[in-house]
Amino acid sequence: MSIETQRFGTGPDDLERAAHMLRDGLTVAFPTETVYGLGANALDAEAVSQIFAAKGRPSDNPLIVHIAREQDLHPLVTHIPDQARLCMERFWPGPLTLILPCTDRVPTTVTAGLSTVGIRMPDHDTALQLIAMAGVPLAAPSANRSGRPSPTTADHVLEDLSGRIAGVVDGGPAGVGVESTVLDVTGDKPMILRPGGITREMLEEVLGPVGIDPALGNEAIAPKSPGVKYTHYAPQGTMYLVEGASARTKIAELVRAAREQGKKVGILTTDEETEAYHAAFSSERLPNGEEAVITLSLGSRDDLATVATHLYDAIRSFDHHGVEEIYAETFSEAGVGLAIMNRLRKAAGHRVISS
Ligand code: TXA
Ligand code: MG
Repeated sequence: MSIETQRFGTGPDDLERAAHMLRDGLTVAFPTETVYGLGANALDAEAVSQIFAAKGRPSDNPLIVHIAREQDLHPLVTHIPDQARLCMERFWPGPLTLILPCTDRVPTTVTAGLSTVGIRMPDHDTALQLIAMAGVPLAAPSANRSGRPSPTTADHVLEDLSGRIAGVVDGGPAGVGVESTVLDVTGDKPMILRPGGITREMLEEVLGPVGIDPALGNEAIAPKSPGVKYTHYAPQGTMYLVEGASARTKIAELVRAAREQGKKVGILTTDEETEAYHAAFSSERLPNGEEAVITLSLGSRDDLATVATHLYDAIRSFDHHGVEEIYAETFSEAGVGLAIMNRLRKAAGHRVISS
């Protein structure tokens, strides 16, 4: 499959052309505050099936439906639980997806046959304008090939999907950098199925105690959010998380061992440690003269929001450099740290080394 992928800006004429494509049943990627999404008319099963084809996405993984106004919710859901209402008032538009009981207006291709649908209102002007101009809710997963890190720029989208989708709206880099929090509000106790931009602490301020799907930390249990079971966010090289008080020393040892085997290595770190790694490894070279140890900082350890913003871009950069092994530091799981560590563990295929 190869079609010409149009690149649009965010002016009204460009958005109108992109909206026209969406109304015609085509797929168009667009920026949101979290990551870029690959949109199609959520009420058109044929259009939605093109999302799965372009991404190579398993059909048992349901899609999030994006709306621009609260009233657009009504045709999609049978009722709105009180907890959902509280969340909508406080966090919409924003990086929170609510799992709600759905009507039969929502095609089974969107829900993967579940009786619920995930819905969110993105906090991004361009996304909201595009949805409103299209005049239909947009089903949109992250706009990456299945299994790859989510895209935070239009270039990332094109890297994965050029020739496979009708268009991409380039709205510059996404702000939050990790995907929305997926919150199930259909049971008695609200439950986080995927940690994301709205933190557990923020939700608990509004809702009281909020659970976390036990499957998130345990590969043996089937998750309630089908998408979280797949290998995800993974770089092409093999990634390891190195935790514990002597992580830097341990990483230095592991990098030396990998270099003795002639490997090209990546180090994923923070501003606090970058200098030390540079001092130790910046003179390492491959036989062809290229740098052999690529050290990337996600920002300051004290600023987890910035760390989240840079995470997927850094993982993609390691691929561009062709590193074979990546050693990554770990982060506190407070606030957005929970989402960062969830994505890092998955990117590392749960390979964790203690120090
Ligand atoms: O920030 C985001 O959420 C981005 C932007 C584009 O909005 N979208 C996104 O979509 O991350 P995707 O498809 O990559 O992830 C959707 C997640 C998957 O883990 C999926 O299984 C879960 O939401 N999900 C969707 N509908 C669900 C449902 N009815 N029940 C449980 N989980 C659901
Ligand atoms: Mg995704």
